[in-house]
Amino acid sequence: MKNPSGKGSTIQSLLEQAHKDFRNVGEGEVATYIPELSKANPDHFGICVATVEGEIFEVGDCDQEFTMQSISKILVYALALSLHGEKEVSLHVGVEPSGDAFNSIQLDKKNRAFNPMVNAGAITTTAFVHGATFESRWAKILDTLSAAAGRTLRMDEKVYQSESRTGHRNRALTWLVTNFNQIEATNNLETLELYFMQCSILVTARDLAVMGATLANMGTNPFTGKNVFDVQCIQATLSVMFTCGMYDFAGEWAFRVGIPAKSGVSGGILGVVNRQIGIGTFSPRIDEKGNSSRGIRVFQYLSEELGLHTFNFMNHGSSFLTGLSGVESSVPQR
Ligand code: DON
Repeated sequence: MKNPSGKGSTIQSLLEQAHKDFRNVGEGEVATYIPELSKANPDHFGICVATVEGEIFEVGDCDQEFTMQSISKILVYALALSLHGEKEVSLHVGVEPSGDAFNSIQLDKKNRAFNPMVNAGAITTTAFVHGATFESRWAKILDTLSAAAGRTLRMDEKVYQSESRTGHRNRALTWLVTNFNQIEATNNLETLELYFMQCSILVTARDLAVMGATLANMGTNPFTGKNVFDVQCIQATLSVMFTCGMYDFAGEWAFRVGIPAKSGVSGGILGVVNRQIGIGTFSPRIDEKGNSSRGIRVFQYLSEELGLHTFNFMNHGSSFLTGLSGVESSVPQR
């Protein structure tokens, strides 16, 4: 899967430069509110770009596994939309940025979670993954995320147990959305366990980039050719990433970076440049909003250097990056 043609040396050298420039950024702390996450090595740092044409560029710790945490929310949202359609899902969870933290205990005027990225909305989204048994529901989630990554993923049992033991706020949120009939009362605690489990799926920065490329490629994994998500759900999924993916940093992110993205408290960020690339970064030092400090810098740097902001004049929304012979001349002059 590695850069087969040697094209795109610009991307590779930008990744190396970003790694060099930001590897000593010491801001942010490893998450500790899920006890098992506090064991992460704060120095891990990996950056990966995967193109819709099936090329990979990477630097640093791109083989290091970590749990997806909130990044799983966006993929399970795409799964829920693929299974049930936007109309049905929107009856139970909104698409409005809340300006609140990820674990906010707030519902909108229709008594729905504000969006599928805050925990209340993510638990509601997971409830859309139906099945005759708990195991079959879990298989649907794990198989879908594996297909998006192009390899068989597994869950970190210790992180799952750690969150399940301590996640009382998420338990409260589950009962809150149950109270307003947004999720079924009969299996709501199973749904919560599935949510904890999806957050504990192990991925690498490379997996995040490939998952991003799958979304960028209209739901089809460009490396395996497997269709993972319904093409109809991509617009909605990327919109929610753009407006809500970085929580109460979403406005600043849209302004400065302009790439639909989703972060997780274990330090990953998954970004999607529509029709072009997926970007995965991993560095466990997170800021007070739950976003990776080095990851934010990497995204801002790549966005500026490659003109990846959705509204940048260089970004045609079609493949200027993947017509890689032209990449050098497409890089904005600074
Ligand atoms: O629900 C939780 O608290 C975690 N499993 C996920 C939180 C998370 O990753 C928030 N994102 N930055």
